[in-house]
This record gives sequence, C-alpha cells and structure tokens, in this order.
Amino acid sequence: MAAGKGTRLKSKHPKVLHEIGGKPILAHVIATAEKVVPAQDIFVIIGHEAERVREAVAGTGVNFVVQAEQRGTGHALMVARKALSGYDQVIVLSGDAPLITVETIRKLSDFHTAQKATMTLLSADLDNPYGYGRVIRKGARGRAEVQAIVEEKSATPRQKKIREINSGFYAFAGPALYEHIDRLSTENAHGEYYLTDMAGVFHRARKKVVAIKTSDAGEVLGSNTRAEMMVLDVRMRLAKCRALLEQGVTIFYPHTCVIDSDVEIGADTVIEPFVQLLGHTKIGADCRIRSYSVIGNSVLGEHVTVRPGTIMEDARVGAGAVLGPYSHLRPGSDVGEGAHVGNFVETKKIKLGKGSKANHLSYLGDAEIGEGVNIGAGTITCNYDGVNKHKTVIEDGVFIGSDSTLVAPVKIGRGSYVAAASCITEDVPPDALALGRSRQSVKEGWAREKREAQKEKSR
Ligand code: UD1
Ligand code: CA
Repeated sequence: MAAGKGTRLKSKHPKVLHEIGGKPILAHVIATAEKVVPAQDIFVIIGHEAERVREAVAGTGVNFVVQAEQRGTGHALMVARKALSGYDQVIVLSGDAPLITVETIRKLSDFHTAQKATMTLLSADLDNPYGYGRVIRKGARGRAEVQAIVEEKSATPRQKKIREINSGFYAFAGPALYEHIDRLSTENAHGEYYLTDMAGVFHRARKKVVAIKTSDAGEVLGSNTRAEMMVLDVRMRLAKCRALLEQGVTIFYPHTCVIDSDVEIGADTVIEPFVQLLGHTKIGADCRIRSYSVIGNSVLGEHVTVRPGTIMEDARVGAGAVLGPYSHLRPGSDVGEGAHVGNFVETKKIKLGKGSKANHLSYLGDAEIGEGVNIGAGTITCNYDGVNKHKTVIEDGVFIGSDSTLVAPVKIGRGSYVAAASCITEDVPPDALALGRSRQSVKEGWAREKREAQKEKSR
C-alpha cells in the first residue's frame, strides 16, 4: 500500500518517496518483498502522485494498481480486487514501513498457513503505542485469537493502554478477503474504509483471526512524521554499518558517517569519521577513506587512498590510486590504476591513464590523458568556448609544465613536453617541446636604479 499522501509530513512529496538510508521508503519495501516473491506477484497500490511514485520504482518490474481516490487502507485492497483474485494468500505490506525483513514476512506467511487462519496480522509490543491500531485479543493468554483492531482515534482510554499494536502487515486468505471486504464501512473517526476493520468482520463471521508478534518491534515502525523518519534513518544506517563491520570493514565513529543502504565495501577498508558514501558507491578492499570525503555513485578499486575532503560523483577510480586532499571528481571522471589526483584538482569527463599524476590546482575537463603523464600545478584544459565543449588529448608520457592552458580541441603527442606557463592552441607532435609564452627579457640593474631614484627623491 503506497497510495497515501502522508499529510502529517507537511511535504509536497509523497510520503513513500521520502528517503531513508538514501533511498525511497517504498524502494526498501519492494526490495524486501522481491526476496519473498517474484516481482510479477507484487502489486503496488499507488494513488497520490501516482506517476511520480510509479516512475521511482518502475525499474523493479513490479505491477501497479491505481487507487485514484484514497479512501483508506481497506479501500486500497478493494481497488486491488481484480489484480489479487486468483491468489490463495495475499500478504499486505505497508509502503511506509521500510525496516521489515524477509525473515519476518516469511514468518508471518508461514504462521498464517500453519494456523489455517483467514487473517493474520503482524503485531508488536511498543513502549509508546500512541498512534498505532491496538490489537484486541479474546480468550486465554497464549492461544488468544484476535477479536478486533481499534485505531487510536476510536480507542477507549482502557484500549489505549494496550501496548500490542497492529504493524500494518498482514496475511489474508485471498478468496475470503474478497468475499467479505464489502462489509467494511466508513463509519469511523476518519470516514475511511479501514483494512484493520477486517479483523472484526472476520471475527463476526466466525473466521479465524490471529496475530504473530515480531521479536524486534523496531522492524515495523512506520514513517508518518519527520521525527519518525529520522529515527528510521538512524536505525537503518547503524544496521548498515553493523553489516559492513561484520564483512570486515572498519568504520571509526560510525554514528558520524552517512552510508547509504546500497553501498558496497571490501574487507580491510577503513572508513574514517565524518565520511559520506552515497547511492550505489562500490569501494574495493584495503582502501582508506579519510574524513570529510563525500563519495556518490562511484566505483573505487582496491588499495585506493582517498585523503580528507575529497568529493566524488559518478567517478571510477582504479586500484592503488591516490586522491585528495580536496580533490573534486565530477561525473565521468575515470582515474586509472595508481594515478594521483591531488589537492584542488577538479576533473570532469576525463580519462586519466595508469600512473598519471595531476597533483595540484588544476581543472581537467573533457580530456583523454594517457599513461605516465605528469600534469603540472595549475594546468587548465580550456574545454569551453562559450557555446560548445571540446576535447583535449594528452598522449602517454607527456609532461605538461605548470600553469599551462590547453585550449581545446588540442592534442599533445606522445612523449612531448609543454613548457611551463604555455598557452597551447595548436597540436603538438610526439617527442617535441612546445613553448607557448613570450620569451623572457631581463633588464640588468633595473631594480637598483629604481631604488636609487626613489632615495634621491625622498632626500
Ligand atoms: C495503519 C493502520 C494501523 C497500524 C499502522 C501501522 C489502518 C486504518 N490503520 O495506520 O492500525 O497501526 O498502519 O503503521 O490501516 N494507504 C493507501 N491508500 C489509502 C490509505 C493509505 O495506499 O487510502 C497506504 C499509505 O500510503 C501507507 C499505508 O497505506 O503506506 C498505511 O497508511 P497510513 O495512513 O500510514 O496508516 P496509519 O495511520 O499509519
Ligand atoms: Ca503509517
């Protein structure tokens, strides 16, 4: 169920697209569901901002059911009648509760089957059950069946004291669900069709309704408010760090790091405090990522050193490369094995060959740089003429002197030298020396004469 607006967030974005652990809440729920059943058996009920939600998760191959008007969780299932007919068991997941695990969904489903129940709900004991539906049990402790679920707004003071809450995850006998769902009504505090009322409906029809409690109540927390989302985000990121530690990654002060849920890191890599690893970033083994680096959607090989304050987006870095401090690798940067990109070097859409070095204060954009190249301090590729971008090609073994400007399109041939402070506007053949600056002239004694003239004046 992912059709709701999320009024309590006071947001222009649909609730299920808010991000936790760096990805939309709904994407987490779908990823978990896909580990239980194939995507073709998953139906996402969308409604509020349906097209945006659909687009955000379309890549997963799930089906969509549109609930054009959101008249409650019960109504969401009514709308899905056609899509779900033909399934013996229907598992309902809440699109706003992203911490649910595969094991728990399986447990819910297995318990439902074993109990031969018509409806099984996943419940949890919360210290602060405020806002959740409460589970009303009937009968002796231990084998108590569920009589009803009461929502916060309709609960009596006594019911409000019940700590067992409805998680919003259920298993239903499909055919029975659709035989009885039309008995739901909107006579309640919100004027909505509550799916939770199915417990009472089945109970009155003498069908079996049971509940299974989660061992970890944290798994079922919903994200109705920004405060709840913050709690989920922290939980998810700490769990991610724990999983990485388990895999042999060292993370110092993990609570200062922001590591998205899809990030992969190899063993013996060390992550220092205040590092952000975002999106689909993949880091090889034996790397060291130093403080204040922000790495998004990038792929790093083994033994890479990232010195403090390095920023990377959509970049690839070969094994043994050394970056930073304060390098800025923009999209399309491809740094070769053992290459160095140093402080205040900005790169964009470049290939920097094996063992090449750009250690200080440069802008390298739209460039193809070969192997064993040395880019002197302050070198700039002038890739933009105000209208179009042009390419700079620097072949293997080239030495670019400091403070050179390379006006693209231009090509520096294999093994050439470019003298410091050159402005290169024409191609340089292999093995040449290119000088693109005015010849130095020296006026001997000029300074001494100037000083003496000044002394004379002040007398
Ligand atoms: C619901 C349960 C409550 C339970 C809680 C657990 C009901 C009436 N109440 O309350 O007992 O404790 O979840 O988190 O079900 N949605 C639709 N279409 C709609 C309305 C909602 O698809 O017309 C979706 C929402 O996008 C959301 C999910 O259903 O993903 C749950 O809706 P929400 O409004 O968050 O229900 P709660 O108030 O949290
Ligand atoms: Ca909710």
